[in-house]
Amino acid sequence: MATFTNVGKMLFNNRMTDSNCTQLPENRVVVPRSGDRTPLKYEQLVAWAVEQWQATYGETAYRVVWASESPAYDNALTRIKVGRKIGSKTRYGGYRALNCPHSISISHLHNTSRTVRLIGSVGAYAFRFEQGTRSFEVIFVSAHHLEGFYAHGTVAVALVPTDALKVWADFEALCDRHAYRLERSEKVYIIGGAEKAFEPTVAWDDVILPQSLKDSLRTEVETFFKGGAAIYKQLNLPPFRKLLLVGPPGTGKSMLCAALAKIALDMKCLVIYISSADQEGATFDKVQRALYTATHSQHPVVIVLEELDAYLREEDKSQILNVLDGFEAPNNRRGALLLATTNYPEVIDQRIAKRPGRVDRVIYIPEIQDAGQAEQLLRRYMGTQWQDAYRETLSSLVGQTGAFVREVALYARMLALNSQVEIVSLELLKQSIQTLTRQVSTSESFAPRRPIGFPQPANAANQESA
Ligand SMILES: Nc1ncnc2c1ncn2[C@@H]1O[C@H](COP(=O)(O)OP(=O)(O)O)[C@@H](O)[C@H]1O
Ligand SMILES: [Mg+2]
Repeated sequence: MATFTNVGKMLFNNRMTDSNCTQLPENRVVVPRSGDRTPLKYEQLVAWAVEQWQATYGETAYRVVWASESPAYDNALTRIKVGRKIGSKTRYGGYRALNCPHSISISHLHNTSRTVRLIGSVGAYAFRFEQGTRSFEVIFVSAHHLEGFYAHGTVAVALVPTDALKVWADFEALCDRHAYRLERSEKVYIIGGAEKAFEPTVAWDDVILPQSLKDSLRTEVETFFKGGAAIYKQLNLPPFRKLLLVGPPGTGKSMLCAALAKIALDMKCLVIYISSADQEGATFDKVQRALYTATHSQHPVVIVLEELDAYLREEDKSQILNVLDGFEAPNNRRGALLLATTNYPEVIDQRIAKRPGRVDRVIYIPEIQDAGQAEQLLRRYMGTQWQDAYRETLSSLVGQTGAFVREVALYARMLALNSQVEIVSLELLKQSIQTLTRQVSTSESFAPRRPIGFPQPANAANQESA
């Protein structure tokens, strides 16, 4: 019969940290709940695993423990080689996949299978270990569940020979390190959202903002990775820098993130984009996955967290603030940079700006400052249509946003198309500005509140007209 002990919340908090890993055995032993009701997911897993154990190893004594979910991750299964030393006396002997009816792919639950876990999966396995002439196995099974308060969780249990709990703890720690270690890529990794990764296409020059602002932002990022992180280390602080871009919707914050992501990739950083565009939405769990990855990466890391305000909901607020305060800061000696954005300076004022150190720099991304910037934007979005006569309209664009100018340009082209003329006359441009200005004063903005990802390349309009 299995031995069980209660470990309370460990059931759901199944991502092991290095510290609880070494502490393992006693405090991570599982207890079944009593009473007459449908078994919870973990109970189904335990019952199944116990059957496997008895059929294969008979009377051999074991413990049932909560496990990390990482042994089932592709990265762990493929990267940890047979023969690898685990502790001083043990070697890893490989694994066998087992068929467990309770452990089904997440796609059966909802259709974002590729991205619910960044690099994770669930499954059932027998992991083999060798100690000299003796060998033994651990039965491991993980599954997604939709139970109670923690909907969409993952639970994992393992049946471990009673004298091998330490070996298993060491093996899990190894799996954790491999599971979350992302290879550096030419693309931006996405946590959440429908895609796994994407290539940022926005060039730095595509972003039209006051030059001094752009320069200082770029310097900030480059300096941090070119030696700034080392200074944190010298001061014995985790090299974690937090920048917050604040400004009205449509001023180019998402564009800046995309352009900086591209620069970071060129600097050989790993870039992670946290997306809220899936069923999970803006959850702290995603932030935590990104931080975990950042901690365990062998590369410098940039985490892009758009619409920070959406993550500051009551349930998650204290956790996010902990991260910002540095209590849960990723400790990656090559440096981790959080690039966050928000449209709501008020939220930021209360919870963030008034507390020094929560963010290292708040950078305001303003509306169009002057006719010069308006001209650059209008030229960009009118493409080959540009006429010097358009300059007359520039003063009416000051105070508007880049997104507004893009719409003005597009709408003017539509008006021309409607009147079956090829060229956008000054009159049509003015008409477009007038219509959209009225629209802006009645609706709120042209920029989507919750963007689905980085914006399209800024020169899309040029390409169209070419
Ligand atoms: N400063 C800018 N320079 C060039 N294009 C801009 C700028 N600001 C906005 N745009 C255009 O408007 C679109 C939406 O801007 P976005 O970066 O999503 O704004 P925000 O994230 O600040 O709400 C961009 O994809 C781009 O086409
Ligand atoms: Mg945005």
